[in-house]
Amino acid sequence: MNKITTLLKKMNKQNVDKKGIDNVVKVLKSGFLSKPEGGPYVKLFQHRMSRLLGRRFSFATSSGTSSLHATMAALNLKKGDEILVPSLTFMADASVVIQEGATPVFVDICEDDFNLDPKDVLKKITKRTKALIVVHLYGQPARMDELVKIAKENNLILIEDCAQAVGAKYKDRFVGSFGDISCFSFYQTKNLVCGEGGMITTNSQSYANTLRSILNNGIKHPNVDDYDFDHIGFNYQMTEIQAALGLRQLERLDNLNKVRRKYAMLYKEILANTDLTFQKEADDTYNVYCYLTGILPKRLTNKRDQFVREVLKQGVPIKRQYPLTLPETQICRKIGIGNVALTPVAVEISKRVFNLYVHPGLSQNEIIDFAESILKVYQKFK
Ligand SMILES: Cc1ncc(COP(=O)(O)O)c(C=O)c1O
Repeated sequence: MNKITTLLKKMNKQNVDKKGIDNVVKVLKSGFLSKPEGGPYVKLFQHRMSRLLGRRFSFATSSGTSSLHATMAALNLKKGDEILVPSLTFMADASVVIQEGATPVFVDICEDDFNLDPKDVLKKITKRTKALIVVHLYGQPARMDELVKIAKENNLILIEDCAQAVGAKYKDRFVGSFGDISCFSFYQTKNLVCGEGGMITTNSQSYANTLRSILNNGIKHPNVDDYDFDHIGFNYQMTEIQAALGLRQLERLDNLNKVRRKYAMLYKEILANTDLTFQKEADDTYNVYCYLTGILPKRLTNKRDQFVREVLKQGVPIKRQYPLTLPETQICRKIGIGNVALTPVAVEISKRVFNLYVHPGLSQNEIIDFAESILKVYQKFK
C-alpha cells in the first residue's frame, strides 16, 4: 500500500470510534436494520439534526445526491424551468436538475471564497428561473445575506447544498437553516460520516409532506398501512446502521471541526510566505474546512497538475476539486447545457485549485511535515 492510501485509510478509520461501533452493534442485534420512514436511530438522528439547525423537519436519506434529487422532485419542475447552480461544484447539483426535466443555468463564483457571486446570480435570473442552489463549497458558507435577499426579491426557491459544510456558520447561524430546503451529505469524505447518507431539512410543512412521501416511494400519509400512493417517489431512505454511526458522529462534530480549523490555520501559517492563496474565510463566517482549499498564483496555472503530482510524490495527500467547471464537462457539452465563457472566474479557479487534507485523523506533526514538504515543492516551481 502506498503512503497516500495508508493515510486515507487512517483518516477513514478515525471516522468510526468505539461508541460508533457499539451503536452499530446494537442495531445489528436489534432486529431492525431498516424501517419504513425510520427506526429509532433514524428518528433520533433526524430529531438531533432538527434541533441543531433549529428546523422543524429533517429527513435522513441514502446520500447527498438522493437528498438533492428528492428536493428537485419536490419542486415539481417543468420543462423550461431554470435552476441557478454554481459553475464550480459537484456534478450532482446539475444532474438532479436535468433528471427532473429542468435546465441548470451556471453562475460564476467569487474570486475570494469560491462560492456563488451574488452579482452574477442577478445577471443570470430570467422569467423562467425557479430556484437557486447555494453550495457552501469546501466548508465555507456562501454570502447568505445577499443570496437570501436576491431569492426573496426575485421569488426564487432557495436550496442549500451543505454537503461539505455541516457545522459551518454564517453570522452565528448554521448553514442548512437558510434554505427553503437544505441538503447534507454524510459520505466518507465529509465532516460527518455514515459511509453513505444524507439529510434534508426544511421548515415548510408542505415541502415536508411531499418529501416524506417521495423519499418512501410516494406513499400516501398519514395512514401508510392503507397502502396507497399519492406521489411518484424513490426509495431514498437511510438505514438504521447509517443512522447509528451518524448519531455518534454528530456528538463528535463540534470537536472534529475544531481540529480541522486548527490544522487549516497551521497549514496557512507555514505557507504564509508564499504566493499560494487560500479560500477566504470572511470575518462573520465559520468555515469547517472539509478541505483547506488553495490556488496557485496565475503564473503557475499550467503547472497545477504537475504541482499536485509532485506533492503526492512527497507522500502528502492533496487533490484537485474540481479541475473542471460543470459547463466544461463532457456530458454538459454533449447535451449543450451551459457556456464556458459565461463563468470565467470559475474556469480560472478550477485550473489553479488544490485541496489539502485537514482531517482530524491526521496528527499535528503530520500537518507540519506536509506543509514543509509542500514548501519544498513550491520552491522548485518558484
Ligand atoms: C457539493 C456536493 N454536493 C453533493 C454531493 C453529493 O453527495 P453524495 O456523495 O452523498 O451523494 C457532494 C458529495 O460528493 C458534494 O460535495
